Amino acid sequence: MKLLGNNPAFCFINNEWVPGCSAQRVPVINPSNGEVLCEIARGTADDIDIAVMAAQAALEGDWGRASAAERGRVLHNIGAIILDHAEELAELEAHDVGKPLKQARADVVALARYMEFYAGAADKVHGATIPYLNGYTVYTMREPHGVTGHIIPWNYPMQIIGRSVGAALAMGNAAVLKPAEEACLTALAFGELARLAGLPKGALNIVPGFGAEAGNALAQHPLVRHVSFTGSVDVGKLIQESTAHHVVPLTLELGGKSPQLVFEDADIDVALPFLVNAGIQNAGQTCSASSRILVQRQIYDQIVEAMTQMYTDLRVGPAMDDLDLGPVISKRQKEIVEGYLDRGRDLNLVAKGQVSASAPEGGSYVAPVLFADVPPDHVLAQEEIFGPVQVVIPFDDETEALAIANGTQFGLVASVWSRDGARQMRLAKKLRAGQVFLNNYGAGGGVELPFGGTGLSGHGREKGFEALYGFSSLKTVAALHGS
Ligand code: NAI
Ligand code: MG
Repeated sequence: MKLLGNNPAFCFINNEWVPGCSAQRVPVINPSNGEVLCEIARGTADDIDIAVMAAQAALEGDWGRASAAERGRVLHNIGAIILDHAEELAELEAHDVGKPLKQARADVVALARYMEFYAGAADKVHGATIPYLNGYTVYTMREPHGVTGHIIPWNYPMQIIGRSVGAALAMGNAAVLKPAEEACLTALAFGELARLAGLPKGALNIVPGFGAEAGNALAQHPLVRHVSFTGSVDVGKLIQESTAHHVVPLTLELGGKSPQLVFEDADIDVALPFLVNAGIQNAGQTCSASSRILVQRQIYDQIVEAMTQMYTDLRVGPAMDDLDLGPVISKRQKEIVEGYLDRGRDLNLVAKGQVSASAPEGGSYVAPVLFADVPPDHVLAQEEIFGPVQVVIPFDDETEALAIANGTQFGLVASVWSRDGARQMRLAKKLRAGQVFLNNYGAGGGVELPFGGTGLSGHGREKGFEALYGFSSLKTVAALHGS
């Protein structure tokens, strides 16, 4: 915690660490042992207001005057300083979120990559000239929205800051970030590193606290001109209502029930590690986790048997032990997952991983569970569990596989495992998802790849170049000058 010192208990506004207006604190729990790690400020609507004002002032000050190239240079410097502090950030995240250290390290690298990607992209977002009536010149340009609000969850704080705050800053917006109350230490560290890297004051402001207080105030603030939210479907709907009030554009990254479709002609050896990892990565607490494995009957028994073996070998333990899985984020999340397991007690439970003997009593550990022969309409095959639970479902042919795959209210990610190129193309078209992977599965990965969903998975796209369009607004200029 060298980087943060006493700062977790403060808000980061105008490049300064300031106490929250309420002077109240929220304890942060280490999910590996259930102990209090530190306290964070309980940000209020007043703190959000101060942060939004600071962001607005930044747009009228140094940050607003910075050229696109200068914005890119600052983002580049932030990426470099993140890598300089990689191990400290990874350990902070491991303690705060309970991620095995290797996952936390991968998240640091992804955060730095987002900064590098958006640094390079900042001065490459061109407008167009449009042929129009004789005597006119018409062109378009991309402008920042203004103050952008970012409400993020606890499962991948660094990656989600990278994709949302990174793209917003690249386009010249000034950001106010409300990290999740369960895990916000790397978000605060990001503020400190951005300051050290030369980000002008007010360009990024961070107010920790509860969703219903600080988060709600941010979504409702009249000066916030764009909101991006990643989290639960229920809160996503509330935020859509709040932003509708001021007719403000919104990016919603909600959950998923993402399927992998495995056909009898698949390369099974390549597929197997993807099938399992995509479900248990980050203890299944990944919006793009693959929680449904659809398998053609000819190879069904073979796949279930191989996955059973892999599940039996999975080990769960404290983040710093760096096993296959860490704990889930909280006691509450463990209860949510166990509630689903209870609703699946009549299903065919074929395999379970093991919680390591080194796991402290007070930690929130859930052994990963694999169910086979699950009816596609069962609640465990329909709802997001957000824990290390996968269901395997058999199918006979492509038509049935597609119907099952598209048969939930979500539509985030899907993958197809088959050597048949025509089938790959057909399914890539027909699968209801924002991302389709052919003979691979990229849970959460791919800084360069546009990402987002349809249906209950949300709308709008983050990541890649596409995000820059979402974080800007297009202006058309038409000049009549005569010929
Ligand atoms: P949540 O949606 O309550 O929390 C996400 C963020 O929204 C946090 O920063 C929280 O403080 C904020 N928030 C909560 N209520 C708010 C409100 N009324 N106004 C504004 N901001 C608000 O998610 P939670 O409770 O942590 O997890 C519940 C379930 O949501 C999980 O079991 C999982 O299914 C899903 N989830 C999905 C995520 C994803 O990556 N798509 C991430 C986190 C949770
Ligand atoms: Mg909640």
